[in-house]
Amino acid sequence: MSFFRQSDFVGGARSCQAQEDLDRLIESIHQELLPHLEMESPNPLNPVVVYRVPEPWQLLGTGNYAGVFYHSDYGDLVVKIYATGRLGWEEELEVYRRLVSHPSFSECFYAENNFLILKRLYGVTLYDCMHRGLKIPKQVIKDIDRALEYARSCGLYPHDVHGRNVMMSEERGLVVDVSDFLQEEPCLAWQDLKKAYYLLYLPLFSWHRLRVPYPILDLVRSSYRLFRRVFDRR
Ligand SMILES: Nc1ncnc2c1ncn2[C@@H]1O[C@H](COP(=O)(O)OP(=O)(O)OP(=O)(O)O)[C@@H](O)[C@H]1O
Ligand SMILES: [Mg+2]
Repeated sequence: MSFFRQSDFVGGARSCQAQEDLDRLIESIHQELLPHLEMESPNPLNPVVVYRVPEPWQLLGTGNYAGVFYHSDYGDLVVKIYATGRLGWEEELEVYRRLVSHPSFSECFYAENNFLILKRLYGVTLYDCMHRGLKIPKQVIKDIDRALEYARSCGLYPHDVHGRNVMMSEERGLVVDVSDFLQEEPCLAWQDLKKAYYLLYLPLFSWHRLRVPYPILDLVRSSYRLFRRVFDRR
């Protein structure tokens, strides 16, 4: 078993109360969540499927590798659990180690085999903003750009920065998923998303409260993936 506490390297800044909460949360993960959670990742190109979450745990979001959950008594913390067969929790831990602490990113307070306990970011992913018809101001994009610049200054390589991995919170931008930031090969996802924002969203869509249904958003997502595969091969 391997573990890490953020307090180990930021100088023990957590209070005793916070440490006790963390310890209780870890106990609940082992006793209540993990034994009864039913989740699988049938396809690494699509989000994991969660069939059962034991009370009082709640599902907060899913990605292609992991499900993210919170406990109602510890609402400021989330647990990111990698699905069976999906690797990457140790790399994600290393990314958080390098980021230390920055307002546009989460923080990791604890990690062990296949799960991480992270600071909860209160925001709406840009993907969900499109679904809910929420206006995305330019400041959100600028904040994310600045956050990615900070990540580069920490020796990281922003990667896989797409609409489900960035959030808007009170008109500011946040980066919610840093799991691939050790991958050195170039990734154009954020550059492409920014182009779409400035060339399409701002002039055409930002004036209407257009709510885009999930099947259309998913179609855009898979068409983009196909476009990149074909285009990058040339
Ligand atoms: N710290 C957090 N605070 C609040 N919500 C979060 C947090 N981390 C993740 N989420 C939610 O859970 C979803 C899935 O998490 P995440 O993107 O980290 O999973 P993933 O499997 O690594 O994703 P990907 O498919 O991009 O690799 C996010 O889109 C977001 O909605
Ligand atoms: Mg993600």
